[in-house]
Amino acid sequence: MIKIGIVGGTGYTGVELLRLLAAHPDAELRAITSRKDAGTPVAEMFPSLRGRYDLAFTDPAGADLGSCDVVFFATPHGVAMAQARELVDAGVRVIDLAADFRLQDPAVFTQWYGLPHSCPDLLAEAVYGLPELNREAIRTARIVGNPGCYPTTMQLGYAPLLEAGVIDPGRLIADCKSGVSGAGRKAEVNLLFAEASDSFKAYGVKGHRHHPETVAQLARLTAQPIGLVFTPHLVPMIRGMHSTLYAELTRTDVDLQALYERRYANEPFVDVMPAGSAPDTRSVRASNMLRIAVHRPAGTDLAMVLAVEDNLVKGAAGQAIQNMNLMFGLPEATGLEALAVLP
Ligand SMILES: NC(=O)c1ccc[n+]([C@@H]2O[C@H](COP(=O)([O-])OP(=O)(O)OC[C@H]3O[C@@H](n4cnc5c(N)ncnc54)[C@H](OP(=O)(O)O)[C@@H]3O)[C@@H](O)[C@H]2O)c1
Repeated sequence: MIKIGIVGGTGYTGVELLRLLAAHPDAELRAITSRKDAGTPVAEMFPSLRGRYDLAFTDPAGADLGSCDVVFFATPHGVAMAQARELVDAGVRVIDLAADFRLQDPAVFTQWYGLPHSCPDLLAEAVYGLPELNREAIRTARIVGNPGCYPTTMQLGYAPLLEAGVIDPGRLIADCKSGVSGAGRKAEVNLLFAEASDSFKAYGVKGHRHHPETVAQLARLTAQPIGLVFTPHLVPMIRGMHSTLYAELTRTDVDLQALYERRYANEPFVDVMPAGSAPDTRSVRASNMLRIAVHRPAGTDLAMVLAVEDNLVKGAAGQAIQNMNLMFGLPEATGLEALAVLP
């Protein structure tokens, strides 16, 4: 059994880790933290988990994380990097769902997250945890920076085109939408039911933290500079993410459908839809699957990719467990094969 700790177990990605790990045959939860709800039994806060977990939340300062094999940080940025050195030195592997280990350049991290990186040496060895593009490095990593939700859709959406060298990497446009759980489980006026429901708006238009992360990772797939316009939107649904990605084709003789089917033929969590499809977010709700469709809009030299995922699963907790499976030599899909729930 893999002994597991979770820092930040009361948030949306934390409870999603709990839900998924409850169905994982090799997972044993040893420690789970919350500062505000220390002492509260997990099953009292989340009745959906009654009968699955006996533990109560503990304050992070007193949690026995050092005896775990792996610790997930389902916390805001800045938390994992403060504890990673001690854990790694104790032989504990770290998977951070926040951004502390996603951006390789500490100056770029500071520019976007507003604080200095407290362990640049560990940042240098950290591995970006997108299995479909980085599988071998993840297997042996001591620290994994789990990708952002939007960057997962953009990278898996653009990767086949960039790898095949059939688009202009300098002119990418990503029009992306997220459900409100993407903002976490906190009280903010713009997340109130009366504000977020029955309405639809863009945000982060001047710049979003997932932009530098995506550009840095896409740059690994091509020798040419990446130019990306990325516009996120908040849509009135709880879970789900839909990204519509555009790219200018530099070669128009390519069978895009065959390209995507070939690229993802052996990927357990990327489903290339039949030609002409438009995947919906509910087809991936609560599952670790990313569904993708590729189009060539009539009368253009554009490729258009539609990608959907559940932001809390393939966009966060499910991907983190996929990474854990790789790091501990388990079949990659272990505990992650549940289908989407419908309706
Ligand atoms: N929501 C998504 O769809 C999504 C997708 C991909 C990645 N992420 C990333 O995953 C991380 C968690 O997101 P979330 O949506 O689950 O957030 P959340 O719902 O706001 O939960 C945050 C959790 O972290 C704990 N926490 C906050 N500050 C802490 C600190 N200083 N030290 C220790 N624990 C602390 C909170 O509990 P206490 O305050 O009680 O300690 C809570 O359990 C974020 O970095 C987010 O950007 C989220």
